[in-house]
Amino acid sequence: MFVPVVMAGGTGSRLWPLSRQLSPKQFLKLDGDKTMLQATLERLADLSCEPAVLICNEEHRFMAAEQLRHIGVGDATILLEPEGRNTAPAIALAAIQAMCDGEDPVLLVLPADHLIQDQPAFQAAIGIALEQAEAGRLVTFGIQPSCPETGYGYVKAAPVHGNTTVALQVAEFVEKPDFATAQAYVDSNDYFWNSGMFMFRASRYLAELEAFRPQMLHSCRQAIAGAKQDLDFVRVDAPAFAGCASESIDYAVMEHTEDAVLVPLDAGWSDVGSWSALADVSAKDAEDNVLKGDVLIKDCQGILAYAEHRLVAAIGVDDLVIVETRDAVLVARKDRVQDVKHIVEELEQQG
Ligand code: GDD
Ligand code: MG
Repeated sequence: MFVPVVMAGGTGSRLWPLSRQLSPKQFLKLDGDKTMLQATLERLADLSCEPAVLICNEEHRFMAAEQLRHIGVGDATILLEPEGRNTAPAIALAAIQAMCDGEDPVLLVLPADHLIQDQPAFQAAIGIALEQAEAGRLVTFGIQPSCPETGYGYVKAAPVHGNTTVALQVAEFVEKPDFATAQAYVDSNDYFWNSGMFMFRASRYLAELEAFRPQMLHSCRQAIAGAKQDLDFVRVDAPAFAGCASESIDYAVMEHTEDAVLVPLDAGWSDVGSWSALADVSAKDAEDNVLKGDVLIKDCQGILAYAEHRLVAAIGVDDLVIVETRDAVLVARKDRVQDVKHIVEELEQQG
């Protein structure tokens, strides 16, 4: 048994203009009739696990609760952060909360905004990871890299000798390397991408945080000690959490721990981190176009057109992303979609 911890506090800014501050990527239906958060929880339905802990920003609490209710998940604990401090503190809050009644469960930490297409392969990987986590290891799930993507963590892993499991000893964990380093890693064939999913005992994670980021752990303990129940939500103590540093688990713990293993995951994984990544995992027409909503095209190839409120028509264009929403339209070359985050930054500066 384990406790799923679903992290849903990110902004997903590279999917602007669909993903916004008030409705970030994890709360959107990008693929099918479920939101990414709902799909994440439904993926757990066949697994033998305890009720989930969802951790998100307080401004999204009603949307999150409503989405859980819609899929019949009524028993999750919803932890609310007054402001995001990235994933290391978010996971610490969930781990401390999970240990409140004297238990020390294994946690399966899941981003709420990933797509996994092969459910049996996902379940098999979790089975292998659970044994490792129960034995005190910190497990990461590794994806075979297909390109030198710089937005991911890279994990160098070597086979465990004389062992029947397929968990691999982690030799090195490097979060978001520069392009040349990422290229060298991919060429070496010795590295996996870090999927951003983790499994470990609550106490093991907190012990690593104590070793590498004691101040962060202290702030998180204070934030849970002062937490208040509000309707169905648990609000962490705002002043205590305001003093917490902001850092991801990858930098704060995974780059430093000596006790990590990697379970390879070949399950049609995508973090849908950009419009082109969404196009890659979507159904296409004969000309490689992905069309969502009210879209009419003539002689186009390799485009992604997303119409939310109006008809979108395109003629004779290739390899473009066109996203129409109520108040903004994005037109970008497919190979420039990573730069959408710069538009978002500029808009934020303008207020
Ligand atoms: N509750 C909470 N609070 N959740 C958060 C916060 C926060 O402050 N910040 C991020 N999250 C959630 C996001 O919603 C997402 O589901 C998950 O945590 C990961 O955060 P991202 O911001 O999306 O991380 P990333 O994509 O840059 O990098 C991570 O994922 C990659 C794979 O997609 C790292 O783990 C990389 O190593 C990994 O390769
Ligand atoms: Mg991400």
